[in-house]
Amino acid sequence: MVCSHRKTLGKQHTISDEEDTVVEKLDMIYEGKAKKVFKTGDENVVIVDYKDDATAFNGEKKGTIVGKGVINNKMTNFLFQKLEKAGVPTHYIEELSDRETAVKKVKIIPLEVIVRNVAAGSFSKRLGIEEGFQLLCPTLEFSYKDDALGDPLINDYFAIAIGAATREDIDTITKYAFMVNDFLKEFFGECGIDLIDFKIEFGKTDDGTIILADEISPDTCRFWDKKTHEKLDKDRFRRDLGGVEDAYQEVAKRIGLVQES
Ligand SMILES: Nc1ncnc2c1ncn2[C@@H]1O[C@H](COP(=O)(O)OP(=O)(O)OP(=O)(O)O)[C@@H](O)[C@H]1O
Ligand SMILES: [Mg+2]
Repeated sequence: MVCSHRKTLGKQHTISDEEDTVVEKLDMIYEGKAKKVFKTGDENVVIVDYKDDATAFNGEKKGTIVGKGVINNKMTNFLFQKLEKAGVPTHYIEELSDRETAVKKVKIIPLEVIVRNVAAGSFSKRLGIEEGFQLLCPTLEFSYKDDALGDPLINDYFAIAIGAATREDIDTITKYAFMVNDFLKEFFGECGIDLIDFKIEFGKTDDGTIILADEISPDTCRFWDKKTHEKLDKDRFRRDLGGVEDAYQEVAKRIGLVQES
């Protein structure tokens, strides 16, 4: 990794690689709904900084989930490291603080990649299938990442035709998305949690390699308690079910990220 020796510009973090590389938090490049992205002295590295802000329904509903940024940062990093070991390349480099992580900078492929194991949310609504129906096999769908259009459903032909991705990209993404599902389903299953569905994003590094980016957290997954089917994810916020913070904490506890209290 290229070292940054520029002084006094931003907060410095040391990465525990062989050279104890210094990453410097420079200008903010982008502020999203859940995270801020900052430049560093290395053009191939950015810092993501997780916020407690919560939004739903394409930004129409806004709120705060206290402590969410810390949980989502730590959970994503924990899962990304496990996914790397399971053969899915990710953007993870190193956790710098409770809310900040150094990641490989990518050009995000403008597709939200959604995998489902159980019917819920927009799938249930669109197809008239009751929430909780166990799908006969996992499904995959894409949404076109465009806030102004409300992230509409798109298929692979559309994505290729508008230049959002190539056939090769789609094949790679599809393969990784099901690998992520296989891993997460088993991992959360062992923690007493059913993985209902999730959304992931992929990006391309400078050399064109596709890697898993963004996050995997209760913001981006539906988690139901295996026994009670209680919702342990952002649906508690979307649907005003209460106990939002507790649900995020509960998932963190179940996977061993925080101590039982
Ligand atoms: N490794 C990465 N390199 C560059 N950008 C990234 C990387 N990982 C995630 N991002 C992008 O960081 C942005 C900030 O995240 P956040 O989740 O707050 O965005 P968002 O409000 O959901 O907006 P968007 O509609 O762009 O996804 C997102 O656009 C996401 O695609
Ligand atoms: Mg997001």
